[in-house]
Amino acid sequence: MNERGRFITVEGSEGVGKTSNIEFICHWLQSRGMEVVRTREPGGTPRAEAIRKLLLDPGHDEPLDDDAELLLVFAARAQHLATKIRPALARGAWVICDRFTDATYAYQGGGRGIAASRIASLERFVQRELTPDLTLLLDMPVVDAQQRLQSRLEGAGGHRDRFERERLAFFESVRRTYLERATAEPERFVVIDAGRSLDEVQAMIAEALDDRISPWQ
Ligand SMILES: Nc1ncnc2c1ncn2[C@@H]1O[C@H](COP(=O)(O)OP(=O)(O)OP(=O)(O)O)[C@@H](O)[C@H]1O
Ligand SMILES: [Mg+2]
Repeated sequence: MNERGRFITVEGSEGVGKTSNIEFICHWLQSRGMEVVRTREPGGTPRAEAIRKLLLDPGHDEPLDDDAELLLVFAARAQHLATKIRPALARGAWVICDRFTDATYAYQGGGRGIAASRIASLERFVQRELTPDLTLLLDMPVVDAQQRLQSRLEGAGGHRDRFERERLAFFESVRRTYLERATAEPERFVVIDAGRSLDEVQAMIAEALDDRISPWQ
């Protein structure tokens, strides 16, 4: 039987460079002979992406209840785990995921104020024993990250999704929650200073992959 693949998650609040750096991570691993599955949350499969649309769409008169939001995030995650992540890991592929459960603690916990213990009970229910092998937390001041997003926002005709409409205090709380989680689990997290140039960020990511997770070390 194959050795199980590794599960790497990339976290951080909006605009820190998760999507930009995932491309680099995938190439880095592929050039070392790994089968790589690149995916994201919420979403990653057609049904889970349909739930993502529901979560991000600001265009309903009816507000989305915080608990309903939390349950939708975990419903999408259950589908994603069952149909994509677990099968990929079982055949030995490395799964690189743009956001995962740390984002739920940061956004629905830190941002919306849902108790971490309630999130933890859903985490156990949906994930059972599965947690990421490595989590790269891209961290930088919220206002600087929002500045980076300006050009993307202009490209989208100024359209903001349900989360992008939140206020600064929401994102400050998201950032703080991420950093607290990284401090609590130093063996799983690597915090990357995402305010540096893309080249510098990628060099730090490569070093983290080499140090923490490379089977050749
Ligand atoms: N290190 C960097 N230096 C300067 N600009 C960067 C850097 N990393 C990413 N960017 C730019 O910042 C913007 C946001 O990057 P990206 O979309 O990768 O962030 P993200 O974390 O995926 O955001 P979101 O949470 O909204 O998906 C993009 O325009 C990207 O080109
Ligand atoms: Mg992104």
